[in-house]
Amino acid sequence: MKVSKSSVFMLTLVAGTLTGTAHAAPDWGKVPARNVTVFYPGNSGLEWVMKGVDHSGARAVKGGETCAGCHDKEAADIGRKIVSGEKLDASPIKGKAGSIPVKVQAAHDAEHLYVRFQWKAPAGGGPKMDPANQMKLTVMMDAGKVEYAAQGGCWATCHNDMRSMDDANDEAARKHAKAGALGWSNGVTKYIKESRTTLTIKDKPRGGWDKLKSDAEIAAALKDGAFLDLMQFRTGGAPVDGYVLESRHMEGGKSLVNAEGKNENGTWTVTFKRKLAASGVGDHTIQTGNLYNVGFAIHDDHTNARYHHLSFGYTLGLDNAEADINAVKL
Ligand code: HEC
Repeated sequence: MKVSKSSVFMLTLVAGTLTGTAHAAPDWGKVPARNVTVFYPGNSGLEWVMKGVDHSGARAVKGGETCAGCHDKEAADIGRKIVSGEKLDASPIKGKAGSIPVKVQAAHDAEHLYVRFQWKAPAGGGPKMDPANQMKLTVMMDAGKVEYAAQGGCWATCHNDMRSMDDANDEAARKHAKAGALGWSNGVTKYIKESRTTLTIKDKPRGGWDKLKSDAEIAAALKDGAFLDLMQFRTGGAPVDGYVLESRHMEGGKSLVNAEGKNENGTWTVTFKRKLAASGVGDHTIQTGNLYNVGFAIHDDHTNARYHHLSFGYTLGLDNAEADINAVKL
């Protein structure tokens, strides 16, 4: 029998609808959960972390030790210290929670990764820095090519000279020849060391926002997978599928299928569904046998920039008991 392409397509469609397995939402009650405390990080950018005089963990981080290895159990204490103004933030938001315990779950089927976050919304009432978004949840993921991502997750992208950080120069950033292309209209956004010729750690201003490598070198890094894949749920707009390399790109990715979030009786639930396959610019392919370095951030109560709660770095894998966050097969 000669089967036309369109009838094969129709058959597949019917079979898919009948079984429904490939697109069923996970039964989250059956998926193991990992508790991760996110905390208010103040001005603890990568340069602060890497300077031994400021932070006694600096040498261990250089040696490969992870932040979570020393601090996993202390995240709440660290957040309390910083949000109270005792350390790393001269003017913290009044009444802000120092930390938030978050339940993290992950699952996958043959085509998709599902990640779910749940937490009790802390008390609000702070300044509305981002009026459009009451809450944003951002996940970043490295596939093993970004320095410091294995140790510190998001810290690989966070520098003391970014907007809202203590060594920022927003005025100079806005005037930079590449400000338009890099989205610096409000100042410098996240970047990774691989995109810069040098990072200043010892002297002020710390960081390397304007020490950009050439376009060719940055294109090569992108091709090589040296970037953090980024996805974001936001209450006030469409989900974002981007990446961080020489700047924070809020577009380019095509792997994110959807991101949903709701607040029920004060408990937030945010779920991401993304293709395992890399489909666009700045997407990583997620494969069995690999571990991915992930970190996530919650911008609670209309906050922006550094005024979020942040996780240390954790690993994510598919059916991998060694992963901190093990995405189990559905
Ligand atoms: C070898 C253990 C070790 C590692 C690894 C380590 N730290 Fe620390 N960290 C410390 C110690 C000890 C302190 C407290 C004293 C100080 O500031 O030096 C500290 C303090 C901090 C503080 C300030 C809060 C406080 O209680 O003083 C922050 C924030 C922090 N670390 C973040 C990080 C991040 C982010 C990483 C990973 C990129 C990291 N640390 C890795 C040992 C470590």
